[in-house]
Amino acid sequence: MKTMAGLDVEQVRADFPILTRMVHGYPLVYLDSAASSQKPRAVIDAMSDYLSAHHANVHRGAHELSVEATDAYEGARAKVARFVGASRPEEIVFTRGTTEAINLVAYAWGRSLGPGDEIVLTIMEHHSNIVPWQLLAERSGATIRYAELTLGARLDVGQMASLIGPATKLVGVTHVSNTLGVMNPVAEVAELAHEAGALCLVDGAQAAPHGAVDVQALGCDFYAFSAHKMCGPTGIGALWGRSELLEAMPPFQGGGEMISEVRLEGSTWAPVPHKFEAGTPAIAEAVGFGAAVDYLENIGFDAIRAHEAEIVRYALSRLSSLDGLRIVGPTENRLGVVSFTYGDIHPHDLATILDRRGVAIRAGHHCNQPLMDHLGVDATARASFYLYTSRAEIDALIDALLVARDLFGGFD
Ligand SMILES: Cc1ncc(COP(=O)(O)O)c(C=O)c1O
Repeated sequence: MKTMAGLDVEQVRADFPILTRMVHGYPLVYLDSAASSQKPRAVIDAMSDYLSAHHANVHRGAHELSVEATDAYEGARAKVARFVGASRPEEIVFTRGTTEAINLVAYAWGRSLGPGDEIVLTIMEHHSNIVPWQLLAERSGATIRYAELTLGARLDVGQMASLIGPATKLVGVTHVSNTLGVMNPVAEVAELAHEAGALCLVDGAQAAPHGAVDVQALGCDFYAFSAHKMCGPTGIGALWGRSELLEAMPPFQGGGEMISEVRLEGSTWAPVPHKFEAGTPAIAEAVGFGAAVDYLENIGFDAIRAHEAEIVRYALSRLSSLDGLRIVGPTENRLGVVSFTYGDIHPHDLATILDRRGVAIRAGHHCNQPLMDHLGVDATARASFYLYTSRAEIDALIDALLVARDLFGGFD
């Protein structure tokens, strides 16, 4: 089936070896891409080729393999930099993922904070964009304030503006909510932060997989994202930061690779980004990250977004036709993450029943406990879609939900 923008979903699916497997005797229906996406052959092959033919440690040796490994690693950095619109590859720090990227900023940049300083976050943040700031608040005496949602479950930008003032040092916001599927007006939030003299950090974990990110257009100061949610491997992600901020920040961790000189009396630091990459990095994973960027760019983000928009529309229309199914969050203008509750079936039971039919969804608080508290639920079921999701998979989800309802003897 071809969408208007030209993505042939069957052709895309053929790129992902795992999508042909069976689970409990049923074809796998993978609707958990927001937790981690599947990997195309191009990424698997790039990592395998690197490990089979080019591996050595980076930045250290004069020998050929070390040069090849360094070129592969730094080449991946250049691809990731281009992908987010960084001015220079040096603005990309490789991290273990979004979580480590945010911790890096909270630790290194956050060392200048003290009592009286404020950090503004939103109640829809993933725990990764809350807990590092709570740890910083404990260390520094700074205070955290939280922006609320509108009745329509979108970020209340007006209320957020009322929290941002002269004491605000940083505003942290997720680009796309991993529970509600809404995209936040990051450019507007960054402007509010800058008007108050604060910085803006964006958690891009759920946005980067779905579209070319342009950090210049967003106007933010830091952008954090993970490779494993965008067809790349686990264990690697990136922090984009403005050069002058990265230059001014102290290191995050100490060790090899991040130093210029070490003397018994003290040490000096390597230039950015190496100052923030202590120890031997995840080289094969960086290569896979670069290959994932190439893969997605070759398919084209316009085609990917058009396909996902169509799948979300179809999923929402089919899901909302089920008695007892309640979509959590807005039903329009959202990306490919749909959270829901179904009658009085606990989301964990629902996920288990669906799994018996090969349908993989996620159930729980999705690392969004403050948001769950706000919504008055302790868990939801969540189906999430990506470039390889087909209409047939949505149909399989609906069939499995009907089976679950029958197992529970219907709803009142
Ligand atoms: C919005 C959001 N932020 C941060 C993270 C954390 O990403 P990682 O576990 O790759 O560090 C996730 C992962 O689920 C997420 O959805």
